[in-house]
Amino acid sequence: MHFSERLYPQARLGMLLNGIETEGNVIDLSIGEPNVPLAQDVLSQIPDGFEALTQYPKPALQFELQETIARWLSRRYKLDLQCFSAKDQITILAGSREGIFMLPIALFNHQLQHGQPITVAMPDPGYPIYLASAENVGAKVQTISQTQLSELTTSELDVYACWAEIDLMFVCSPSNPTGEVLSLLQWTRLIELAKEYQFILVADECYSEIYSEPFAPTGLLEACAKMGNSKFENCLAIHSLSKRSGLPGLRSGFIAGDTHLIKSLQSYRNYHGVSLSSIQLKGSQAAWSDEQHVLSNRQVYGRKFDEFSKQFSDLSCYQMPAGGFYIWLDVGCPAEKFCQRLYQEFAIKVLPGHYLAVSDLTVEALQQYVRIAVVCEQEDIPFIGQAIKQTMQFCCHSNSVGGHVA
Ligand SMILES: Cc1ncc(COP(=O)(O)O)c(C=O)c1O
Repeated sequence: MHFSERLYPQARLGMLLNGIETEGNVIDLSIGEPNVPLAQDVLSQIPDGFEALTQYPKPALQFELQETIARWLSRRYKLDLQCFSAKDQITILAGSREGIFMLPIALFNHQLQHGQPITVAMPDPGYPIYLASAENVGAKVQTISQTQLSELTTSELDVYACWAEIDLMFVCSPSNPTGEVLSLLQWTRLIELAKEYQFILVADECYSEIYSEPFAPTGLLEACAKMGNSKFENCLAIHSLSKRSGLPGLRSGFIAGDTHLIKSLQSYRNYHGVSLSSIQLKGSQAAWSDEQHVLSNRQVYGRKFDEFSKQFSDLSCYQMPAGGFYIWLDVGCPAEKFCQRLYQEFAIKVLPGHYLAVSDLTVEALQQYVRIAVVCEQEDIPFIGQAIKQTMQFCCHSNSVGGHVA
C-alpha cells in the first residue's frame, strides 16, 4: 500500500482506541513529543519583533547557523574544523523529517527521471518516513533489522547479502523504536560497505543527545573521521533540535557530510523552497551554541528512566535503552489488545510496535511489542508502571478486553 493511503501510526492508534471510553486525564505516551522544561535562556535569544518576517531570511544568517553547527559537530564528534567546510558540508533543514522525506528525490532525481528506479534500505521496525520517502519515488524497498546490523561485525557470513542493489540506506542510532545504538565497529563496517558497494549511507541521529552519561553514542561522521574517511565519502548524518533541545515546534535540523551530496541537496533545496525564517535561524543558533539545557534534559530523562527501571525491576522483558527516550517492551500478549485495555482502564496511550514495522515478517514478529515514549511527568511514573504491569497480567490471562476485542 502506498504511504498516501496508509494510516500514520498515531492515526491508526486513534482508530484502534476509537469508541473506547476512559476516565481521567489521558497520558499520551504514543508519540515522541519531548516533555522537558522550556529552554528559557535559549529562547530568550530569539528576536521578539516581527520585523524579520517582512523579509526573506538573509543568507548571512543561514551561514552563521551553519558555522555554529560545524562547531557543535566538532565538539560533539571530535571533528577537525580545519578539514570541514560549514558552507559546503551542512544543509539546514526545517526539522529532520522533511530532510528524510526529501533525500531520495533530491539525490537521485536525474536517475529517476531517466526511468532508472532505485533501491532504498531502511531499518525494520523504524520511523515511518523512511518508507514513505522511498515509496514517494517508486523505489524498491529493502529492510534490515537491528539484529542483522548487529551481526555485521560478529558473523563471518554476511547475513544481509543484497548490498550491491542498494542506492541509499537509512540507519537510525539511537534507534526509534528499539533504543539500540550502533557501535564504532558497526559504523565502520557500514562505512566500508557503503564504499565497496557505492551506496549512500544516511544516519538519522536525532536522538543522539539522549543517553545515560557517560555513554554518548558514536556518530557516523565521528566513525568516518576515525577511519580516515575525512571527506565523509558517501555518508550523511541527520540531526535535529526537536529531541536534543526539546524544541519540536522550532522545526529545525540539519544534514552534514559528503560535499558532493550536500551540493546536490543544496541545489535541490533552492527550488524545493523549504527554508527557515530568521526567527527559527536565530533560535537554532542559540540552541546549538548551548549545551547546558541539553545536559539538563538528559538528566530529566535519566531520572524518568531510573524510576521506570525501579517500577519494572521485576519484569524480565524490560531493558533500559542504550539511547533515545523509548521503552520497547514485549508485553507477552497481543499488543493491540494491551493498548486498548491500558487506555480503557488507565487512560494511558502507547503504540503497538508492529505499527512501525515495514515488512510482513516484522509485522508478525512484533505482534506483542509496544513502544512507550518516556514523555510523561516524573510523578506519574509509579502509576504508569503499575498500570502497564497490571494490564500485562490481565491480557496474558484473558482472551477479551471489555467489549472491544473479540
Ligand atoms: C527517528 C526519527 N527521525 C526523525 C524524526 C523527525 O523529527 P523532526 O522532524 O522533529 O526533527 C523523528 C520524530 O519523531 C524520529 O523519531
